[in-house]
Amino acid sequence: MQPSIFVYLSLLVQYVACEQSYLSVVDHNKDKNASKRPTIKVPLTPETQHIPLDASQAHLCPPSPRIPTNYSMFVGLSAFRDGIRCGKTIFAAYQRTTNPNQLYFGVVDQVYENDTTCIESYCSLAKVEWRDHECKYRNQIRIDQRDAAESRGPTYARHFQQKLLGDQEFCLQLDAHSIFTRNWDLEIVKEWKSVGNEMAILSTYLHNIDGHVDKNGSNIMARTAPHLCQTTRGGSGNVRNVAADLIYNSKKPQLSALWGAGLSFGKCHAEKRVPIDSHTKWMFDGEEFLRASHLWTHGYDVYSPSIYGLVVYHNYTRVPATFFQLKVDGTTKQLETQRANNRVKYMVGIPFKGEMDGEELDIYNWGTVRTFEQYLKFSGLSFKPDTQDQQSCSQLHWVPYSNPQPIEDLLPGWSMTPPPKTIALTTTVPLNATTPKLELKPAMRKERLHGVDFQSTKPLNSTTFGICLVFGIVVVIFMYFAPKSDDSSKEQ
Ligand SMILES: *[C@@H]1O[C@H](CO)[C@@H](O)[C@H](O)[C@H]1NC(C)=O
Ligand SMILES: *[C@@H]1O[C@H](CO)[C@@H](O)[C@H](O)[C@H]1NC(C)=O
Ligand SMILES: *[C@@H]1O[C@H](CO)[C@@H](O)[C@H](O)[C@H]1NC(C)=O
Ligand SMILES: *[C@@H]1O[C@H](CO)[C@@H](O)[C@H](O)[C@H]1NC(C)=O
Ligand SMILES: *[C@@H]1O[C@H](CO)[C@@H](O)[C@H](O)[C@H]1NC(C)=O
Ligand SMILES: *[C@@H]1O[C@H](CO)[C@@H](O)[C@H](O)[C@H]1NC(C)=O
Repeated sequence: MQPSIFVYLSLLVQYVACEQSYLSVVDHNKDKNASKRPTIKVPLTPETQHIPLDASQAHLCPPSPRIPTNYSMFVGLSAFRDGIRCGKTIFAAYQRTTNPNQLYFGVVDQVYENDTTCIESYCSLAKVEWRDHECKYRNQIRIDQRDAAESRGPTYARHFQQKLLGDQEFCLQLDAHSIFTRNWDLEIVKEWKSVGNEMAILSTYLHNIDGHVDKNGSNIMARTAPHLCQTTRGGSGNVRNVAADLIYNSKKPQLSALWGAGLSFGKCHAEKRVPIDSHTKWMFDGEEFLRASHLWTHGYDVYSPSIYGLVVYHNYTRVPATFFQLKVDGTTKQLETQRANNRVKYMVGIPFKGEMDGEELDIYNWGTVRTFEQYLKFSGLSFKPDTQDQQSCSQLHWVPYSNPQPIEDLLPGWSMTPPPKTIALTTTVPLNATTPKLELKPAMRKERLHGVDFQSTKPLNSTTFGICLVFGIVVVIFMYFAPKSDDSSKEQ
């Protein structure tokens, strides 16, 4: 007797059900009661994330990705007195990419006179690896070297980092102390493509290096994917991300409302269309919120990569030097900090005291594709007095553009509202009877799932999990003991 098709089918169903992806949410807000709050399991259904929640808009979807056959990539790094590790980062990137000739770097290297620079560190490694060259790929690396004493925090450096970009197709931003794995370029583009959104930005807090890169640079895949969904207020009163939560059974990039500076990957039009504000000196809290909200209102959507897209790791060992050790005039720094913090408070509409930097607000304002109010709703952030952030630790859904024109201009041939289908007009059914709105929706929903039937979205509680696990084991045992047909299962 052979196991019937029924057994195979139920095995498949159980496999899919038990492998539902979920977010493990720990309350990271450091109040006294935090440790008493349990870790919550939130089921995720990323197959449905591009179906807008608003039923009247459920037929709309983001533009499909456009990938040329031959594309180049730009990696932006901003290093603060971290030349040795910065050079290693670039070296590993060239060693482990499949297409070194199309890989470009732009580095803002903030150093003191006596520091090893990023390019010195890179070239000394490159000279050993590629002996026939003085410093291979040097002409693909653009350096903006700056006196560390003139540094004014991360956003200020990244403003200049964006200026190093050429006409590359894909843009990656990392911390200067990141570690690439073999074939990272192919894997990250594959992951980005799997989102199905030209406006996708992959971003999260990266896992620490330990145990994830083998001796010859191959990726030892992580079991979980970090996902940003919790915010708090920093000392300055501005929004900052709290530590990432973890997605289990993560197989697809997951729509997110927040952005992390340590990994940001997408099309370079994002870097060109969404400039980083140079009037936010000394800004630490607020940087990531500003980037998230600016990208989103310009029409971009952030996703945390699945485990397949985690191809770069982060060296969380203490940085060799920090901005806080800079010897700068205290009064000037205080004033610059106040002017920057108040700029953000002004933008989000909360009251502030003292001076504000109001320069070039038109250039660095929110985008016009979606409104800031829509972003607040999407992210759960709140700037009203005495209200708390709702957080975004659940399945989010794509929000159609309130003004699709800038995206339609960016992507010739694409329109958010597809032209009405003409097929209905050629039939003899009376026009009134067709009520097109209601009939089209289910069909479109199905299409949007790329032919994959998605699972019921009922929450995965521990009872159902237990039942399906036990059932799965029983099925496997049954299959194991069922008499096997003679040769078909043997490997040749
Ligand atoms: C902490 O818990 C106590 C009782 O368990 C409660 O009275 C108090 O309001 C809580 N504090 C916060 C900040 O949630
Ligand atoms: C890809 O484009 C680059 C630059 O335009 C060119 O040098 C290279 O030969 C192209 N490669 C292929 C495989 O077409
Ligand atoms: C650089 O090194 C020289 C000699 O070692 C030393 O005299 C000088 O103070 C150093 N400068 C800085 C900025 O550390
Ligand atoms: C990496 O090293 C292992 C053994 O150390 C080897 O089996 C494997 O083929 C190597 N992979 C590559 C891509 O070189
Ligand atoms: C991480 O950084 C530290 C210095 O901060 C360095 O000693 C160590 O070698 C780095 N680890 C890796 C794997 O590059
Ligand atoms: C179609 O609707 C119009 C008005 O909406 C009405 O005048 C007409 O009689 C309807 N035709 C049919 C076949 O129901």
